[in-house]
Amino acid sequence: MSTPEHRHQSSLAHSVLLIIDDSEAVRTALEVLFSLHGAQVLGAASPQEGLGALGREAVDLVIQDMNFRREAMSGEEGVALFHEIRRRHEGLPVVLLTAWTHLETAVELVKAGAADYLAKPWDDTRLLTTVRNLLDLRHARNEAAGLRRERHEARESLADRFALCGAIYESAAMHTLVSMATQVAHAEVPVLITGPNGSGKEVLADIIQANSRAASGPYLKVNLGALPQELIEAELFGTEAGAFTGARARVGRFEAADGGTLFLDELGNLSPAGQAKLLRVLQTGEFERLGSNVARRTRVRLIAATNADLHAAIREGRFREDLYYRLNVIELDIPPLARRREDILPLARHFLEEGRELSAEAGQALLQHAWPGNVRELRNVIRRACLLSGTPVIGAQALNLPVPESARPQEQEPPLDRGAVEQALQRAGGIVSRAARDLGLSRQALYRRMEKLGLKTDA
Ligand SMILES: Nc1ncnc2c1ncn2[C@@H]1O[C@H](COP(=O)(O)OP(=O)(O)OP(=O)(O)O)[C@@H](O)[C@H]1O
Ligand SMILES: [Mg+2]
Repeated sequence: MSTPEHRHQSSLAHSVLLIIDDSEAVRTALEVLFSLHGAQVLGAASPQEGLGALGREAVDLVIQDMNFRREAMSGEEGVALFHEIRRRHEGLPVVLLTAWTHLETAVELVKAGAADYLAKPWDDTRLLTTVRNLLDLRHARNEAAGLRRERHEARESLADRFALCGAIYESAAMHTLVSMATQVAHAEVPVLITGPNGSGKEVLADIIQANSRAASGPYLKVNLGALPQELIEAELFGTEAGAFTGARARVGRFEAADGGTLFLDELGNLSPAGQAKLLRVLQTGEFERLGSNVARRTRVRLIAATNADLHAAIREGRFREDLYYRLNVIELDIPPLARRREDILPLARHFLEEGRELSAEAGQALLQHAWPGNVRELRNVIRRACLLSGTPVIGAQALNLPVPESARPQEQEPPLDRGAVEQALQRAGGIVSRAARDLGLSRQALYRRMEKLGLKTDA
């Protein structure tokens, strides 16, 4: 069952919480509260004890006080403890329990990466909810990290057995495609690679070629999109001297690639006559040079690529259906980069110059961009940023990407503070726009926070 309540119960039931508070009464109260919900609770009376416990035990979440001696009031010890926990256990959620007089310090620490804070005396229900949410989040993150590790290992194991031609990826989609490419490489059937501009069709073609039986044979690439229509057939099949005015005898690509691989890029641009000849050479291995009626034979592994919608082209009569079925025995369809976001940062790091790195904001900006030009656009953005930015760390600005809606300044909100929101609402007699003015927020911003806090927004 996966009702929220069930999930919540199990997230606490399997967790180890560490309470660092000098007050025995507080430790006992929290231990009772969380034990009732199935968690294992450890206690520590001082920062040193707490850090010691963290070193020994697999703790899932820390609840820490801000002052550890009766006479201490500044919260400094708590700040130092928090930073030390962050330094030693980067992703560990930390909930700060603090006196009302130290709320500002707590807010600062939340900005610095503390998970959340609650004012003493705390509200049990609210504390339970906070802790459960943080545990769920941590669980989800760990799962994602585990998946990433598995995928990384799968890629490494593939790279041990096959040439991956420098392909960089972490997404499951690319892993499946690259594995398929290595598997079909040794067969002699043609392969059709589809996908949008700059998504890596040629990289995939290189992988197929490099792992094929014809790997040591010739490997020729023809971009049918870059050739004038009237030259395409001559380029592919060659010409006999005098085939047309001024024509010299010329070996076509099918002939030159004999015993090897021919990569036909932008296949959608092939004329009907060219399509007929291609179909024939695929069916029989035979073709003629232009201006000749001597049939020649060739044995070529064909890899074709297109970013055109061949189905639409077939419907509109621009592409032969029989040729399509010849070619698509194996079809590898590369999704746009925006649909495999796990690949964005590994690719970006790959394209960076030695000694350069991306700031966290730059990483966020890359993840949020829509990448209409896919990997090629990403490569160009990174290269330009390396050229234009003089600093080792490349910031979001240097990427010069359009700012997405969600990252615009009016959306940046101070951390959530339920107490302040509730009080403002009370003062405003429940009128949200008035409470918003009181808090210095827009009405929409307050609605969003209320929603996040689980406060009723229909008042
Ligand atoms: N997975 C990848 N790992 C490393 N580099 C990649 C990857 N995918 C694409 N690239 C790089 O991005 C650029 C564009 O890739 P490629 O030429 O293969 O795309 P394409 O789909 O053939 O594009 P087009 O439709 O414009 O022909 C190339 O420089 C390529 O090396
Ligand atoms: Mg290409």
